[in-house]
Amino acid sequence: MNPVRVSTGVLGLDKMLNGGLIAGRVYLVKGSPGTGKTTLAMHFAMEGVRSGEDVLYITLEEPADNMREDFGRMGFDVRNPHFVLLDATPTVEKYVLVEDFFETYAKSLEKLTSAIIERFKDVNYSRVIVDPITMLKIAANTEIEYRKSFLAFVKSMMKLKATVLITSELEKTNIEEYLVNGIIELKRLEVKGKLMRTVRITKFRGSGFDPFVRTFEITDRGMVINTNENVGEVV
Ligand SMILES: Nc1ncnc2c1ncn2[C@@H]1O[C@H](COP(=O)(O)OP(=O)(O)OP(=O)(O)O)[C@@H](O)[C@H]1O
Ligand SMILES: [Mg+2]
Repeated sequence: MNPVRVSTGVLGLDKMLNGGLIAGRVYLVKGSPGTGKTTLAMHFAMEGVRSGEDVLYITLEEPADNMREDFGRMGFDVRNPHFVLLDATPTVEKYVLVEDFFETYAKSLEKLTSAIIERFKDVNYSRVIVDPITMLKIAANTEIEYRKSFLAFVKSMMKLKATVLITSELEKTNIEEYLVNGIIELKRLEVKGKLMRTVRITKFRGSGFDPFVRTFEITDRGMVINTNENVGEVV
């Protein structure tokens, strides 16, 4: 039986993924600052909302208000009640006003995992986004501790049957790369003085995928992939 596919909300990317992500699994979007990770994560979130699903988005670095403003302008339905955008960015008010909030979501990956599981007691989210995971990695005491908690996170998410997208800023995301079900890599290149954005799939368990590096643009309407133009093959 063919696996159930979940649209990323980006047509060209679904095509690269042979129809979309496989439902109920955990995926990593990696890329350096400004490469478009949050934009892609928002497409994924909003595609869920558009098809009537409940979506949980945990933002750890970019304030939720900023996101609503910027992505609202791109035409995303950021105020839809089925889109739960949790701001886990560290602000002074949070420490003072909402006791333990930042602590719960951003202190460690274990805490984040149990906070997400707790949320599922109220709503059965079909998509979960953690953007970015970077801070939780830095917060871990040792690599082995992080590896264990990341694996526990992946297993918990799969048990919840949600399709999960996490973003990471770190170039060296070795641990996550082994444990996730697929990786989408975003890059910026300078070609003859012009900025070019590229996307490629480097891993996708259980599915074939487009082996080419594709270029894309971020427009007023979000991410648009040039599926007819490729930069080369994935090695
Ligand atoms: N309307 C627009 N037109 C063109 N480019 C845009 C538009 N809106 C945003 N961008 C580009 O998208 C980039 C931001 O993408 P995004 O926030 O998704 O990246 P990111 O990888 O999440 O970055 P960070 O690591 O800082 O979180 C901006 O740097 C900007 O160049
Ligand atoms: Mg971002």
